[in-house]
Amino acid sequence: MSKNLKCLIVDEMHESVVGLLKEINVIPVYKPDISREEIIEQIVDFEILFIRSKTKVDRSLLAKASKLKIVGRAGAGIDNLDEVYLADKGIQIINAPEGNKDAVGEQTIAMLLSLMHNVVKSHLEVTRGKWDREGNRGVELSGKIVGIIGYGNMGKAVAQRLSSFGCTVLAYDKYLIDYQDQYCQAVSLQTIFNSADILSLHVPLIDETYGWVDDDFFNKFKKPIYFLNLSRGEIVVLPSLVNAIKCNEVKAAALDVLQNEKLNTLNKEQQECFDFLSSSSNVILTPHIGGWSHESYFKINQVLINKLYQLINT
Ligand code: 3PG
Repeated sequence: MSKNLKCLIVDEMHESVVGLLKEINVIPVYKPDISREEIIEQIVDFEILFIRSKTKVDRSLLAKASKLKIVGRAGAGIDNLDEVYLADKGIQIINAPEGNKDAVGEQTIAMLLSLMHNVVKSHLEVTRGKWDREGNRGVELSGKIVGIIGYGNMGKAVAQRLSSFGCTVLAYDKYLIDYQDQYCQAVSLQTIFNSADILSLHVPLIDETYGWVDDDFFNKFKKPIYFLNLSRGEIVVLPSLVNAIKCNEVKAAALDVLQNEKLNTLNKEQQECFDFLSSSSNVILTPHIGGWSHESYFKINQVLINKLYQLINT
């Protein structure tokens, strides 16, 4: 690839991005507040575009991107990128799940232990003057069966951490072969439905997973489960989760992501689900902070720029 490549950065990234790009002789132009209209006009000058989740990268954004060769996603999920269009245009995608997998792994364990040991529930009670030990007796992770769906960087980071808790970890990944390792047993989806006490989702948002976790999905579990979603909100049909909680198919749930994360724009159904979930003592909600640590903010840049370096030097 030619020298003097220019990279347009259109979202907030850790400040190290500018220096790291210069080290590999790429000229950075950092414009985190740029509008979509401005990107459309200015992209013509750039070979590389760095984005995060807020920028939808599609045909309309790239109409004038005649020089563009690489889109770098500073993070893991690439559901905001039109992969088919980019492939058609010969534009390569790089992302950086290796940079925030530790943060996701830790947040998943934190949410799971909080659910099982009533950490958030009892904290709220104590701060309101209620000292209830029996009502907050915990359930141990030790001896339980944890199902992980999606065994990429995130699923594996969770399994790795679970290995010290004395539980059995089962993993299912439709797109991997030979993925069993020292942290999990690779199993069928049916085995997870049959055996899991806990389910943690770590799949990407693609057509196949959009709305995948619905009534039918929850009905398939043989035991009431602890349910965790730190992947994408659109994968879970919220009314189905609400029903599953009401009929004790789901004992407790931890959600770091929602279908609509702009809480002041919820439609009626989303609002009803949100009101139910936020008033349920067996539900924990966090604002999409899995993967969002001080360390990952920097590590994402390191990973992305290493991948960029490999790509432009081969
Ligand atoms: C990811 O996919 O890495 C996370 O969801 C965070 O993405 P964001 O910080 O760009 O929203």
